[in-house]
Amino acid sequence: MAAGHCRTEIADAVHEQLLTLDFTAPFLRAHSKAFELAERVTHYTPKGLNRIFFTNSGSEAVDTAMKMALAWHRIRGQPQRQMFVSRERAYHGVNMGGVSLAGMVNNRRTFGLGLAGVHHMRHTALPENKFAKGQPEHGAELAEDLQRFCNLYGGENIAAVFVEPAAGSFGCLPPPKGYLNRLREICTQHGILLVFDEVITGWGRMGAPFGAQAFGVTPDLLTMAKAITNGAQPMGAVAARQDIYDDITNAGPAKGVEFFHGYTYSAHPASCAAGLAMMDIFAKEKLIERGAAMSPKFIDAMHSLRDCAIVTDIRSIGMMAAVDVAVDGAPGARGHEAQKRLYDAGLNLKSTGDALIVAPPLVMEDKHLDEIVSKLRGVLKGL
Ligand SMILES: Cc1ncc(COP(=O)(O)O)c(C=O)c1O
Repeated sequence: MAAGHCRTEIADAVHEQLLTLDFTAPFLRAHSKAFELAERVTHYTPKGLNRIFFTNSGSEAVDTAMKMALAWHRIRGQPQRQMFVSRERAYHGVNMGGVSLAGMVNNRRTFGLGLAGVHHMRHTALPENKFAKGQPEHGAELAEDLQRFCNLYGGENIAAVFVEPAAGSFGCLPPPKGYLNRLREICTQHGILLVFDEVITGWGRMGAPFGAQAFGVTPDLLTMAKAITNGAQPMGAVAARQDIYDDITNAGPAKGVEFFHGYTYSAHPASCAAGLAMMDIFAKEKLIERGAAMSPKFIDAMHSLRDCAIVTDIRSIGMMAAVDVAVDGAPGARGHEAQKRLYDAGLNLKSTGDALIVAPPLVMEDKHLDEIVSKLRGVLKGL
């Protein structure tokens, strides 16, 4: 909820929309707000990524991006590019493509191996980076894992590399300095598409519109969701490079479906109305600049919790941080207990294992930050 809960501008826009046009089947039809929102979104996406495909969630955006990558390579006469590379400790949603990309053992334990041909680079949570504020110094060399996959499997067989610019759901892992730049170089060298999954890092969370701009690295495809509608209506999207869009649509039949993919609720009118209201809020309230201005204070405040005895690491970037608590009994048990106690104390956050993830609204004020820190401190001291 980048703009805070229950924004009347968004609620009113959705209400009005449902009374005007509540649904249109998107496979053969569109409505003006879908185009308007796509255009407004491109004011924020990195330069060149100016074609928008709407989905209903981050998970759908990830699987859509995988299909775009496969389709594009086929059109360009490279159907052998069917492998994907992602990373340990990554989260890419819950659909089968995203589950295969994610670097989480529970996916394998619960759902089996997933798609064939997905390889995972090592994660970037290095012990020497403990308590780093912002991008850590160590770990750029971990990008060479991608080069090793190119050497082992043939770079010409890899369709795309998916990374969260800063891993979110696994507990805020900012990219080591130089790491994303090196991934970009290797992808370019081998003709591999670089996809940033910005479902968390997008829309101001990193102190810039997207992680791409915050870290100065431009991907070929970018997924987003959440704050595009302030979370008030389900919506995700993929931003694609113009030439990827052109190649795919030009290869399709003159009269018929160009890209054999879509969802019944893609660009749902109510979601588009919410998205447009949110674009107004972004502009009017300078939300992204506001988050960027608050970030240093937020990061310092989170790191002030280092003196709590059970805190073993704190990582932070933009308006996202994670506080690790020492394992007590089964891994994750203490983290779970902490988030329950915090909820009872009035602080609603997500825990992953023993990491407590703090990602407050971009409209947060000093007094809210003080409250967050004091509630965290109280619970962490009492555990
Ligand atoms: C990086 C990333 N990708 C994908 C998703 C999945 O998004 P959704 O839950 O909207 O399907 C998430 C959700 O948090 C995410 O953090």
